[in-house]
Amino acid sequence: MKRLLILIFAVAMLAPRLRADEGMWIPMLIGKNIDDMRKNGFKLTAEDLYSLNGNSLKDAIVLFGRGCTGELISNQGLLITNYHCGYSPIQALSSVEHDYLSNGFWAANKSEELPCQGLSVKFLVRMEDVTERVLREVPRGSAESVRLKLVNKASQELIDAVQKEGVVYTAQVKPLYYGNQYYLYVYQEFTDVRLVGTPPESIGKFGGDTDNWVWPRHTGDFSMFRIYANAKNEPADYSPSNVPYTPKRFLKISTQEVKENDFTLVYGFPGTTRQFITSDAVDLLVQQSNQHKINLRNIRLSIFDRYMSQNDTIRIRYASKHASVANAWKKWIGETIGLNRLNAAALKREQETMFQSWAESNSERRSRYAALLPAMHSLHQQLTPLSLVYDYRQEAINAVEMLQLASRLDALVYKSLNPATKADEMKRLRERAKRSVRQFYKDYSFNVDVEVCAAMLSTYAAQIPTEFHPDVLMQVEQHCKTPDDWMRFAVELYSQSVFADTLGIMTLLSDFDSTTAKHLLTDPVYRLHRDFEAMFEPKVVRPYYGIQDSLQLLYRGYVAGLMELHSDKNFYPDANLTLRITYGRVKGFEPKDGVVYAPFTTLDGVAEKAAMLDVSDYRVPARLLELHKNKDYGPYAVNGKIPVAFIAANHTTGGNSGSPILNAEGHLIGLNFDRCWESTMSDVMYDPNYCRNISLDIRYVLFIIDKYAQAGYLLSEMEIVN
Ligand code: ARG
Ligand code: ASP
Repeated sequence: MKRLLILIFAVAMLAPRLRADEGMWIPMLIGKNIDDMRKNGFKLTAEDLYSLNGNSLKDAIVLFGRGCTGELISNQGLLITNYHCGYSPIQALSSVEHDYLSNGFWAANKSEELPCQGLSVKFLVRMEDVTERVLREVPRGSAESVRLKLVNKASQELIDAVQKEGVVYTAQVKPLYYGNQYYLYVYQEFTDVRLVGTPPESIGKFGGDTDNWVWPRHTGDFSMFRIYANAKNEPADYSPSNVPYTPKRFLKISTQEVKENDFTLVYGFPGTTRQFITSDAVDLLVQQSNQHKINLRNIRLSIFDRYMSQNDTIRIRYASKHASVANAWKKWIGETIGLNRLNAAALKREQETMFQSWAESNSERRSRYAALLPAMHSLHQQLTPLSLVYDYRQEAINAVEMLQLASRLDALVYKSLNPATKADEMKRLRERAKRSVRQFYKDYSFNVDVEVCAAMLSTYAAQIPTEFHPDVLMQVEQHCKTPDDWMRFAVELYSQSVFADTLGIMTLLSDFDSTTAKHLLTDPVYRLHRDFEAMFEPKVVRPYYGIQDSLQLLYRGYVAGLMELHSDKNFYPDANLTLRITYGRVKGFEPKDGVVYAPFTTLDGVAEKAAMLDVSDYRVPARLLELHKNKDYGPYAVNGKIPVAFIAANHTTGGNSGSPILNAEGHLIGLNFDRCWESTMSDVMYDPNYCRNISLDIRYVLFIIDKYAQAGYLLSEMEIVN
């Protein structure tokens, strides 16, 4: 009896670490949280947030592009998201004559708005728990491959049924909790989306990589678009006759002062979290994966930096590459520090010990749950060495741009060697390859890439066991003992390859056929790529995914067990790029001994940073500093200052960028755009003492539009409440 009590007590103590502010909640089930939300100040109901009546707050939110969030802010389809979310369409529309990156862009009226090819937004029409339907025909204990087939078949039937509803919807069935549950998501997707306005990069990306993931922050990270529809207000491809979309709902904007401890809510599309991973997986992440990936990116970034600081052309060409390499690199560093600070692996190990005792405490549980953790442990022992090579494939071999380019020609080579390939398909593939090669060279530097190649190959050779060295690499290694040797090898490799000859490769592609394909197979760069892939595929990729699949199955059981063990807890599924709600209060924190972060920043901080002459990330338009100097703030100042950003205890992740921050009344007070560096472990383990999301204050947005850009006419279609 006493042992049982100890067990119960310990289990309660070690419940999965669901703590205040943690959770990315399913809108349809938000009723379970509503009491807690109201206790924290929220004034609306669950029905206000999510309802099928076509007029709840969810109807104002969109999945923007492939992985961001946006929200409607007028009844004429006006949408706001982050600058960094709109960056690629804005960049695509920019040219030397129309340099929207440097100057910003503001359409003076609807006819000046710029269509963005390839950009689409999706509204969630509804979600449905379809677990019973999806699993109905899956016999108990069926093999994973059988289960998968039946799941896919049932999902397809559900999707087909949606398509028969007569409205143009796209649908998707996604697993939650490793396939313990399945949800159907029905979307309406709009493809005529036009750029309405954007500040210049020096405001929208202010702080650049220097400030990325960091508080205090002063980035004016927003851009605006408009959704267009056909005359029936339905999705339609771009046409000059399309009209602004009338949304079911748009957000009202509040300019009321935001104060510490205020209730906030983030409504958006978080991408990926992994809260349930075991201690072994945390160890693998922290001690191996992150460490090696960070190191490889250190090498690559230092090469980029050296060239970018010496050469303006390279600086511009590599700006976006540098930003994206640095973004994950900086996040991984923060994540490792955060997980170590939390002792995440040790905490997980304690939970696992408890789980195991619980699982072994009666025969029914024993049969269902007792074998899971030991099996996962042994799979992890097999996974660890494979995972290292897998990471090097991603972060070392694929980091060599020339090898990446080679891989883009695989389909063309493969198809042209197949006599069954039709002429028009060949033509299509040739054109695609030409486009992709042209694009590649636009932002490419031979000198940078040769150095990256030498450094990546030598690091690979030094770190990865020889059984994973393809023959070509083995041969090279015989001659390459020093970094200079590797460099010489890389230069020679490139100079002998058709890939280093822009004209040559374009000519080759123009009449690419089986003869050219055979010729390409002897090209040294293409061969290096093929030899690596021929080794990776059977020896790394396939076994790696095989183990991942087996792990998925075990996680399904483990998470089901956790939910049974802690049946009183309100669980939330890991983020999977579907609509979620998270809430928390505006709050500062103590990132380290002797430092306290206030929750707000102002325009004063922009001027302060701009005064640091040698930091190019802090260059800012003179006009903005002028407005600051003259305190020409219009109605947007609070206590004589323009608010710029604030932090709050919302549990967010990548994909939440652009998400609206709503106040207790459901009014828009900001746009999520980042997390603090000390928070970045929240994808694995949340810590209420350190986890803060960073939001742009909506009043800075209004100030920039009105006072800086003098595009105040845009405000007249918004509804600003106080
Ligand atoms: N860290 C943010 C996110 O993960 C913003 C990245 C964009 N800004 C940058 N300087 N790279 O997406
Ligand atoms: N900056 C991220 C995004 O683009 C948000 C985050 O990771 O917190 O979605």
